[in-house]
Amino acid sequence: MSSTENQGAGARLLAWVDARFPLTKMFNEHAAEYYAPKNFNFWYYFGVLSLVVLVIQLVTGIFLTMNYKPSAADAFASVEYIMRDVQWGWLIRYMHSTGASAFFVVVYLHMFRALLYGSYKPPRELLWIFGMLIYLVLMGEAFMGYLLPWGQMSYWGAQVIVSLFGAIPVIGDSLVEFIRGDFYISDITLNRFFALHVIALPLVLIFLVVAHILALHEVGSNNPDGVEIKNVKGPDGKPLDGIAFHPYYSVKDTAGLAVFLMAFSAVVFFAPEMGGYFLEHANFEPANAMKTPEHIAPVWYFTPFYAILRAVPDKLGGVVMMGGAILLLFLLPWLDRSPVRSIRYRGWMYKLPLALFTVSFIALGYLGMQPATPVYTNLARLATFIYFAFFLLLPWLSKADKTKPVPERVTYHA
Ligand code: HEM
Repeated sequence: MSSTENQGAGARLLAWVDARFPLTKMFNEHAAEYYAPKNFNFWYYFGVLSLVVLVIQLVTGIFLTMNYKPSAADAFASVEYIMRDVQWGWLIRYMHSTGASAFFVVVYLHMFRALLYGSYKPPRELLWIFGMLIYLVLMGEAFMGYLLPWGQMSYWGAQVIVSLFGAIPVIGDSLVEFIRGDFYISDITLNRFFALHVIALPLVLIFLVVAHILALHEVGSNNPDGVEIKNVKGPDGKPLDGIAFHPYYSVKDTAGLAVFLMAFSAVVFFAPEMGGYFLEHANFEPANAMKTPEHIAPVWYFTPFYAILRAVPDKLGGVVMMGGAILLLFLLPWLDRSPVRSIRYRGWMYKLPLALFTVSFIALGYLGMQPATPVYTNLARLATFIYFAFFLLLPWLSKADKTKPVPERVTYHA
């Protein structure tokens, strides 16, 4: 009997495909023979979780689109129709609205991990840049999606944010008109936001996520020790501190995924509005161009930047500061001049500023949800100052910081 006759039908099909498409080759390169550091901890779940939330959003988004109507006359009612009349429509919609917040929860934790372990430092700068581009596109995606239910907060939130472009000198007013496609937020604006939300930005997101993972697999993962595992290889040429992503991390990530899905389901089934943080109360009223809501605030994941915007008295100044706050994140690989990556081997000159930065970012998030009273505004100014000071002092502090010696191999205690 020849060897092919011994093989089962599945193996023969795989061999047939492999002769025509690099399926096994790709699986090996990115999973079975991708060696990841063996000391991944809690923080390393959030990349895979971001990927899972992306899939949840794409799938639920497709089903929502089947029943949603992108017109000012029908949009609000079509969402109510999905909630009440479409079979399982309420579940699909709540999964999508909860998914938007979950996306930012996992992505913020994923980004914070990079700050803990210096994952943006060479050779991972481009990986970080792709990540930051994902973050920007994700913000655009969430902003445009929020207009679609055509509720009061959809309408007035879009009104406030789009009008910010008007602060740009010379071209501002024309730019605002260009974005809206009209003299006010109208049916035309809704239609183009719909097109961008359901197809243009998701395509860009998918492309960027693929580039992000290819860049990661080119340079290899960092780890909580910030040690380059490729530097110490065994006689077989494999990193001594590396373990195959599949099956070791595919199994470990499945456990993390189970915990995440429990938390996600708890919100979807028991608190989909999350006290007005995930679905704002004002958005249960249809958009009304004649009635401004008493208190306009974006959804929680935008509020740190919204607080920075409001902390500056001048509109253009606020827009510049808000843009600058995001731009500085892009520059992190070049602002951080520490010889070590991981916080485990850094001194207080990184630990303290990072702690202050984290507190100020969370404080800004809180303040961005509150009315702009004098006390809150002054607090937001203080937090904005700390936010910027962290980045602007980093080149000096990271250089002057007294670091500890980094071990040659990762530290791991099972
Ligand atoms: C849709 C959003 C995203 C997806 C699906 C995604 C996916 C992933 C995955 C699967 C990994 C490897 C597993 C892990 O390290 O957790 C990873 C690593 C990484 N990601 Fe992302 N990511 C996303 C957004 C971002 C953003 C917004 C940033 C930063 C601005 C970022 C920066 C990084 C960095 C620096 C690493 C390497 C970490 C290390 O090796 O220590 N990612 N990403």
